[in-house]
Amino acid sequence: MSSLSPNQTACIAALVAHFPSATCLVGDDIPVRNGADTSFLPAIRPIALVRPNTPEGVATAMRICSMHGVAVVPQGGLTGLAGGAHPIEGAVALSVERLTGIEEIDPAAATMTVRAGTPLEVIQMAAQEAGFFVPLDLGARGSCVIGGNLGTNAGGNRVIRYGMAREMVLGLEYVLADGTLVTSLNKMIKNNAGYDLKQLFIGSEGTLGIITRTVLRLQPRPGCTLAALCGVASYEHVVSLLGAARRGLGPLLSAFEVMWPDYWREATETVKGIRKPIAGEHAFYVLLEAQGLSEDVDGPRFMEWLETQFGAGLIEDAAISQSMADVTMFWRTRDAAGEFQTVLGPHVAFDIGLPVARMDEFAQICRARLADALPDMLSVYYGHIGDGNIHIVALQRGASPQPSAEIARIVYETVREFGGTVSAEHGIGTVKKPYLSYTRTPEELALMATLKRALDPQGILNPGKVFDLPSA
Ligand code: LAC
Ligand code: ZN
Repeated sequence: MSSLSPNQTACIAALVAHFPSATCLVGDDIPVRNGADTSFLPAIRPIALVRPNTPEGVATAMRICSMHGVAVVPQGGLTGLAGGAHPIEGAVALSVERLTGIEEIDPAAATMTVRAGTPLEVIQMAAQEAGFFVPLDLGARGSCVIGGNLGTNAGGNRVIRYGMAREMVLGLEYVLADGTLVTSLNKMIKNNAGYDLKQLFIGSEGTLGIITRTVLRLQPRPGCTLAALCGVASYEHVVSLLGAARRGLGPLLSAFEVMWPDYWREATETVKGIRKPIAGEHAFYVLLEAQGLSEDVDGPRFMEWLETQFGAGLIEDAAISQSMADVTMFWRTRDAAGEFQTVLGPHVAFDIGLPVARMDEFAQICRARLADALPDMLSVYYGHIGDGNIHIVALQRGASPQPSAEIARIVYETVREFGGTVSAEHGIGTVKKPYLSYTRTPEELALMATLKRALDPQGILNPGKVFDLPSA
């Protein structure tokens, strides 16, 4: 690491003087885990790690860093794939990992007030115990935290029914670049009193402010969850099945996940302990989920709908859940993607958005272009097709380091040709920064820069993430 500037040295001294030693760590006391997120970028040790356990503590830490003009990288569960929480040379890491806990569940308003460092799964379980449901769900549920989920506007498995993370938020508290704590823990569904400022911070990847608390909107706990794992003969059939599910299951449809055979092979054969719910080879595997009010009413209705789809030839084979254990077992084939990090090793992960009708055409072209450009390529395709969001995991077998830039260029240029987005749900971070302009117009980028300058004039909040500020 390069030597510290006088400002950085003074900033560390001020942080150490203000915070107890469990809150502010320096040098070798900084845990290795805070040196990286899940993006395969080389680890960088922050110049200090501050992990306050109150919103006021986050505000004070930010104020101290601002006074010294020192950059701050906000951190949560460190499960991000785009580098948003990855440390920057010479920056302080400000982690919400100790800012945890559910402050209130309000049954009348159907809201939960929660601190930013609380793991998503803790939130899901607390809602469940109180007779409610938090629909946000993704593979990293056990280690990701709500602050990071909101910072990236996470998508995940149930967007088709409940929307992205931003649609689940009624109130937000955040710290601005100068250390101002803005508390706006609104619980009302309707509140048009001026600008909806919270939406500016949700999905800004810690470049405009640091989220400290939120009020989440709770949904009623589903009376039953029904799922089918279907083998489907062609992509045209997949698209028809999606249309039929939207029409026939209506608001009950809570997930429509599609897995290509290359994904299916890695997920069920390379990842250990995954059971295949259906045997045989299919062109596509669709995990379809419906959440109803009661098993008695919705169970037979779901079966009848499935039978109609069999009759119409849209489904070749299907496993149909008989219990929650089956639903969980079906989801394991999809959650297995979370194990690719370990079993496949370094790779490039994509969260592309595309027109639903052209997903397979895209997959075929992209696979061929990667294979033509690089020997021994593996690329697997899967994702939240009901939301227009496909994932790719791509790697050159045996290569170290991975030709990540070449892989990314090929994929994102194909995305641009298809009129898609380079990030549907994971965010831009640093990994996708070179490609942001493939998806956003010059006018949009200029407005982003205007907002950044207005809210962070010193450029100290997660600098170099999402985009580089053009010189003024
Ligand atoms: C998933 C993550 C990678 O859907 O977004 O598996
Ligand atoms: Zn996803």
